[in-house]
Amino acid sequence: MNSHDNQGITRRDFGRATAAGFAILASGVASAAAATKTGVKKHGKTDLLKVGLLGCGNRGTGAATQMLLGNRNVRLVAMTDTFKDRLDASRNSIKNHKDAQVKKQYAVSDKNCFIGLDAYKQILATDIDIIIHGALPYCRPMHIEAAVKAKKHIFTEKPVAVDPTGIRQFMAAAKEAQSLGLSLVAGTQRRHQKEYVETIEKLRDGAIGDILAGRVYWCGGLPFVHERKPEWNDLETRIRNWYAYCWIAGDNIVEQHVHNLDIMNWVMGGPPKSVFASGGRTWKPKEEKYGDIYDNFSCDYEFPNGVHFSSFSRHWNGCDGGVFEEVVGTKGKSNCHDQGGSGLDPYVQEHVDLVNSIRGTGPYLNEGVQVAESTLTAIMGRMSAYTGKKITWEDAMKSDLSIVPQDLDWKKSYPVGPIPAPGSGA
Ligand SMILES: NC(=O)c1ccc[n+]([C@@H]2O[C@H](COP(=O)([O-])OP(=O)(O)OC[C@H]3O[C@@H](n4cnc5c(N)ncnc54)[C@H](O)[C@@H]3O)[C@@H](O)[C@H]2O)c1
Repeated sequence: MNSHDNQGITRRDFGRATAAGFAILASGVASAAAATKTGVKKHGKTDLLKVGLLGCGNRGTGAATQMLLGNRNVRLVAMTDTFKDRLDASRNSIKNHKDAQVKKQYAVSDKNCFIGLDAYKQILATDIDIIIHGALPYCRPMHIEAAVKAKKHIFTEKPVAVDPTGIRQFMAAAKEAQSLGLSLVAGTQRRHQKEYVETIEKLRDGAIGDILAGRVYWCGGLPFVHERKPEWNDLETRIRNWYAYCWIAGDNIVEQHVHNLDIMNWVMGGPPKSVFASGGRTWKPKEEKYGDIYDNFSCDYEFPNGVHFSSFSRHWNGCDGGVFEEVVGTKGKSNCHDQGGSGLDPYVQEHVDLVNSIRGTGPYLNEGVQVAESTLTAIMGRMSAYTGKKITWEDAMKSDLSIVPQDLDWKKSYPVGPIPAPGSGA
């Protein structure tokens, strides 16, 4: 047993974390029991689990390493990326890791390394038990759907889609995973951070009375920019400089603010009923460099019980900023993590929890619908800011907005923009 196995969030913590948690836990028991009939392999407490990494960039490399740090009876056996240089750098980082155990857990042979846009099919055809999806949001719905068809357990980074069409595809895949008894954990890591888990449990038990209002912020500076190199075609530029393009990452409210919006939904026990938002672009003058995304969003989210949350998401250099959540109740206020004990690094804990779910040594976890709802909460804020119109949850859920090109091809061109002007965007 590794040093992390008995630390951090307990079985009881998870079951009590949210009302939805009870439902997931209950249905998960039924799903897990049915798993043998579905052809999904059962794994005992001591069975070796094999992991594949799809998307070998910064976060994917980090997530794979944290999976190995948290779970010693797991091996990394396969890797894939669109670009060989990214895959090679990731391989080198993990196989030369300073932790001697991680080095031993690295077992990736050349024949299990796959490069290209369609290479996800090859990694899913290997005998891995778990896929870590560290690639980008635009391809998440299609890849997760394929991963469920291939009967793999899943760790997926957030956000899980960039438009409502992708959200519906992802949600359908997550529900299918649940019916097969496949575990799915998402990279909304605060859900695995003891401070948040214990505090939000108390808030939901009435620690600050009835929630009256809240605010959630991610106000930071400009993100990275990779300027186009002469040898890059359009698609390579979009993927390497991904943050700048709405169809790849969903704009800043979706890519980063989803974390804070997820806390809002967690505290409130579900997604908002509507949003009214403003947004624009004052810091990013050049489209080729900064793409077609906004650099500020201000949203007013309203919940079915009439409670409002304000949300700010910004990329402005040289300004005051902050990343936080705060709720105000009839008996006090909370930053959503001030009433919990400290636990394991949540980036490791999420993988410990996933493996415990797969082995049956912890509660069954399928966070697919929950993370899709939080992603759609962010998307509807973007839709409201781009259009200048109030957007309801139903509007967003049934919207046929679909912004990811269906014909990805290195030889085609993918023009940038136009930058949406409120009143005309979608
Ligand atoms: N949970 C967190 O705190 C957290 C932190 C950072 C990033 N992230 C998320 O992680 C994701 C990756 O971010 P990053 O910083 O690692 O980016 P990155 O550019 O370093 O890595 C992304 C990798 O995915 C690869 N890729 C793109 N399309 C692919 C495809 N079709 N098939 C295979 N590989 C493909 C790219 O080539 C690249 O190597 C993003 O969605 C980001 O929002 C989450």
